Amino acid sequence: MSSVKCTSDYSRILEEVISLINIEMYSIQGVGSGERIVATALREGAANLYSYDGMNLVKLNKEPVSGVARVPYGASRVVFTRDVARGREQHLLYTVSLDSPGEEERVEGVEPSRIMGVVYDDEKIVYTSATMREIAIYSVEGKPRKIAALPGFATLTDLSGNTAVGVGALDPASGRFQGLVVDLASGEVKVYKPENASTTYMVIHPEGWIVAGVEGPSGAWLERVDPDTMESRKLELPHGDLEEFKPTSFNYIGFLPEGSLVVVGRKNGRSRIFLDGKQVDAPTGIHGGVYKWRGRLVTTYTSLKTPPSIMSLEGSRVLAGEVPEYVEEAISNVGFELVESYDGSKVPTFIIESSRAGKPGPTITLVHGGPFAETADIWDVFAASLALAGFNIVMPNYRGSTGYGEEWRLRIVGDPCGGELEDIVAASRWALESGLASSLYIMGYSYGGYMTMCALTRKPGFYKAGVAGASVVDWKEMYELSDAAFKSFITMLFAGKMELLGERSPITYVDNLRDPLMIVHPQNDSRTPLKPVLRFMEEALEKGKSFEAYIAPDMGHAVNKVEDVFKILYPAIAFLLRHRSP
Ligand code: 4NP
Repeated sequence: MSSVKCTSDYSRILEEVISLINIEMYSIQGVGSGERIVATALREGAANLYSYDGMNLVKLNKEPVSGVARVPYGASRVVFTRDVARGREQHLLYTVSLDSPGEEERVEGVEPSRIMGVVYDDEKIVYTSATMREIAIYSVEGKPRKIAALPGFATLTDLSGNTAVGVGALDPASGRFQGLVVDLASGEVKVYKPENASTTYMVIHPEGWIVAGVEGPSGAWLERVDPDTMESRKLELPHGDLEEFKPTSFNYIGFLPEGSLVVVGRKNGRSRIFLDGKQVDAPTGIHGGVYKWRGRLVTTYTSLKTPPSIMSLEGSRVLAGEVPEYVEEAISNVGFELVESYDGSKVPTFIIESSRAGKPGPTITLVHGGPFAETADIWDVFAASLALAGFNIVMPNYRGSTGYGEEWRLRIVGDPCGGELEDIVAASRWALESGLASSLYIMGYSYGGYMTMCALTRKPGFYKAGVAGASVVDWKEMYELSDAAFKSFITMLFAGKMELLGERSPITYVDNLRDPLMIVHPQNDSRTPLKPVLRFMEEALEKGKSFEAYIAPDMGHAVNKVEDVFKILYPAIAFLLRHRSP
């Protein structure tokens, strides 16, 4: 490889990656007053908020936003959060009227904190948030008022009158998620806890009863819950398509203005849309919330080949970015494989063949974060960029991933850097044996970065090189530095077996490090803090290990600026290209 050719390759690829991360992405948050879509979009360089009446796209916010509350039909205002601590996820609450774009107002009296869920109506805003000390639910009618402290992290999914509902880890050591019903007047918190199952969605019917999305060992279903007695029974629907589909999860549950129940069910990384249980045609991939807008149904649609856009269910584009042709060409084939792991379990794995990698060619195992998350048929800016850079990609849904039933998800609980690492190795080995891979690399962000660190310290020599983004290296120090939400999360992940924290920390195994490692870490990350990673580097340095690192300034764990995406991807891709062999 001559250095001249190498340089021109690098600059072309980096230019293409810049175009790729600048592709506009849209997702619908609801339909507000005047039949205007409220959308979040990665556009103009950052996550921004827009209204759209079918003709004009109007930016509502001034500075980039973090989270946006689901917009009730006909609402004239939008409520959103913003990080005011340069990435440390100390959020404040803001509102903006659809009729006064740019005139955002800060909600007075809110203490900067990790805001996890927000719901609102004309009168009030209700939110959950975490400080170093506690997790709690607040209601704002005038001034914020603490309604109740909560025993674990929780988000909110709906509000009706004085009842707010949500889901969370309200019994952290159980590993499961429960439904939450809060009476804002009395402060009473009720927990909906079906047996041997998690509750992942709660919405309130206009008549006051609750629809709960429940996930069991191998499938998901809907329950009808009485908010007074908390008794429930299976929700009967007029049509049987949803039941026949046998979803494992729900992307979205909601009511259309005329009262039909919309359910977006998911299985094997792809979703389908159901109206009162009857399937509605939609393209293959993943769909977000479904809303009635100007006489049609609209949703957010994405796939591994398609950045998120807003489209009508008949198939017309409402708001969508342009995808350069070379991006579509590079992602030449998307596959899905059940890969056999060390213990005979099947690991659901997405595969991207890059037209630029060759087959066999250099292949990256790209590991998702969470771990309670998944790689689905959904746009992944890392995966698309790596395909441009000439790598095939395997993306295993290792044990602990969502979307394949509670039995699979719970297998990671109490055993991080255990069976799930074996699943990841199995997916990489499959890539070699199936003729996809000529050489193996590993990369991930957050829990995926932790898996890279685990792989390089527990399986030295297996991968040619690894990129650890925003990784976990020391659970003990991380626990000390975490706020109440992440303390509860770590307790949940370890099933309360806190004596395992040291044994499952990559910093304990620095001695084993020998493969090329690139560490990329946001300076202001408050979920996976930088400090333990600095200590990891110090130890690696003392032990004479080679490694390289890029500390991304002025950003935190959450990526909501195009520039932030580039801060992570640029060092990763430059490193991988240097270590790539055919
Ligand atoms: P994620 O990062 O993969 O982005 O969700 C994590 C952050 C914190 C923890 C785990 C994963 N934690 O256990 O605290």
